[in-house]
Amino acid sequence: MRIQILTIFPELFGPFLATSLVGRAIEKGLLEVRVLDLRDFTEDRHRSVDDEPYGGGGGMVMTAPPWLKAVRAAAEADSRGEIRPWRILLSPQGSRLDEAKVRELAERGAERGLILMCGRYEAIDERVRRTVVDEEVSIGDYVLSGGELPAMVLVEAISRQVPGVVKLAGSVEQDSFRAGLLDHPHYTRPPVVEGMAVPEVLTSGDHAAIRRWREREALRATREKRPDLLEQALEQALEQAPEQARRQVRLTPEQRRELERLERERCEPAEAGLHSDSEIENNGGNVPQAGSASLRGES
Ligand code: ADE
Repeated sequence: MRIQILTIFPELFGPFLATSLVGRAIEKGLLEVRVLDLRDFTEDRHRSVDDEPYGGGGGMVMTAPPWLKAVRAAAEADSRGEIRPWRILLSPQGSRLDEAKVRELAERGAERGLILMCGRYEAIDERVRRTVVDEEVSIGDYVLSGGELPAMVLVEAISRQVPGVVKLAGSVEQDSFRAGLLDHPHYTRPPVVEGMAVPEVLTSGDHAAIRRWREREALRATREKRPDLLEQALEQALEQAPEQARRQVRLTPEQRRELERLERERCEPAEAGLHSDSEIENNGGNVPQAGSASLRGES
């Protein structure tokens, strides 16, 4: 996949593109990233890219001509016949980035390449947006000083979707949000950390029990940390809206039963046999194990 980045701070990208997963993807030729300096497309001696806003007011506005020239040059460099790269302006006004959007952009990128436009200053001249931008993308509802960090976020998230970049295909499949649910907790050596032991089931060698534990813990984590995701998932599962369900989660009947059980636990902890927070703490952070009261009848 080819990604071109337009910025007035190309030096920000050096270490990012040379390091870790993105660095390796570039080294292996799975990803090609080209960083272009917007100032190379200016025509004045000072290589200026901004000016005062018409109508007055504070802040400077990025001028249109360097942007138009730069985006067109980048598009020409990576056009495949009639198909030109998808042009994305990073902006707090864009549609909010989530996992579904990342996958959509990864598909577009694979088909036609991407151009990422990093704005700075107060704004970019509106005529840039109207002529050479296909889509505005925001990484969240807060304002940064420029689009460079958002562009890095996008490059890293998209590169994880490029086949071969993440070693185990399963880890992308299991990433938090992949199925609309958060990930289950993970443990590694040593077996005991400050009195907290690894849940027994994970060292039992019983793969079916481990899978059930992970599904249950993914639901539990989602319910506790992001109940909004679960609500969305349930609504969609109930409505069976195929188009949206494809982008979000489809709970399996087993997951739905598990969720109902978790809900019962929450409403009637004693009856359902759920350990209280302090009990869980005393239990070294372990969750109830197969065979404990709360899981009986499950396996
Ligand atoms: N530029 C400034 N803030 C931004 C944000 N939140 N997302 C994307 N681009 C931005």
